[in-house]
Amino acid sequence: MINISLENKNLFSAQKIYDDHWEMGIKKLPELLKRIEARKQGFYTIFDDKNFQEEIVKIKNFYAENSEKYTDIVVCGIGGSALGLGAIENALPKKNTPNLYILDNSDPDLIFTAQEKIKLETTLFIVISKSGGTSETISQYLYFSNLLKKELNITNKKLEELKNHIVIITGKSGFLREEVKKHNFTHFSVPENIGGRFSVLTAVGLLPAIFMKIDIDEMIAGAQKMVKLFTDTNPKKNLPFQFALSCYLSDEPIHAFMPYSSRLKQLGAWYTQLLAESTGKNGQGYTIISAVGATDQHSQLQLFSDGPEDKLVIFVKVENFQNNLVITPSNSELSKNNKIFENKTFQDLIHAELLGTQTSLQEKNVSNMTLNISEINENTLGQLFLFLEASTAFIGEMLGINTFDQPGVERSKIITKEILQK
Ligand code: PA5
Repeated sequence: MINISLENKNLFSAQKIYDDHWEMGIKKLPELLKRIEARKQGFYTIFDDKNFQEEIVKIKNFYAENSEKYTDIVVCGIGGSALGLGAIENALPKKNTPNLYILDNSDPDLIFTAQEKIKLETTLFIVISKSGGTSETISQYLYFSNLLKKELNITNKKLEELKNHIVIITGKSGFLREEVKKHNFTHFSVPENIGGRFSVLTAVGLLPAIFMKIDIDEMIAGAQKMVKLFTDTNPKKNLPFQFALSCYLSDEPIHAFMPYSSRLKQLGAWYTQLLAESTGKNGQGYTIISAVGATDQHSQLQLFSDGPEDKLVIFVKVENFQNNLVITPSNSELSKNNKIFENKTFQDLIHAELLGTQTSLQEKNVSNMTLNISEINENTLGQLFLFLEASTAFIGEMLGINTFDQPGVERSKIITKEILQK
């Protein structure tokens, strides 16, 4: 069962999209699918791949052999090598897992704070970089391997002990690949045909996730269900396409992604990178704002409601929260104003807040649409990841750009290295 549905009626009621444009767009689906296929991207084909299935077995075996060994997991990685894991950790918190530190910056204070908290003897460093040469990640790898050698007294003769503390996830070449060969580190791969920001459902997200006791098979199963919709040439079934077409036709340059769930806050950070880095090409692209309901009703909603008319607000509604707490039972002493909370749950409240915001934006003709998900679990998160990746691929084709490169990012990496060489 697919646990996501889309309501874009608000767009129509805001008269931002006209039926004839929608009909024209819908006719393009088979052609857009062919164009995506021609780009030979693995983010949706990988699940049937033998190498991928072997990699999943390797991940599970590694976990089975090491599950009791580590108190702390430190992930060195940035951008697509970190944000997906952040979204998983935020959405699916589990009890009794090692402490997880995601070092997605070269900020010395962030690094030092992690260093102070971890117990080095029982820490696993998962170093992730597809290119194997990103400055932030490599510098952390160098720093912590030196620290390990020094603090754990790993002499040059006993270098193989580093293997107990470092695993590498990387592409087929680059510095990290060389380090794998040199030290015989346990290693996993970022497939060549999957870009960093599309890699959350590879070892990049799945290896650390399994240490967080997350059911990675369920996450993959959810993604696979969405692949079926994504590759369906029937526009009524193809949810990612409907979403992409709504985004494209709404013609707003700014997209505010606003799940009504704190557990999906980091999904917003992940989606920010996905949409920004994928669409920001040739003077085109969408500026994305990551917001969380109801929190940002008290921060950004005023701007969405009365600010410049340039935004599409994308709500995510979680139908069923994991904890359904009653705010207050029947209570005769409640003041008249607070009677509204009697026998109501927090879920009732957050749903009412979402509906209130949807209605208020509709009254102002602000473009908005809503993704409904039944609940947050491994399966629905897998669906959401694939849904947003697939819709981004469609949006890119609609804009006529290459969704899957990032020349602007590469340039900055090169200049940074030149500066350090001086
Ligand atoms: O999506 C991308 O390709 C980038 O955002 C990368 O994930 C990011 O730059 C990190 O690159 P790498 O994984 O090569 O270290």
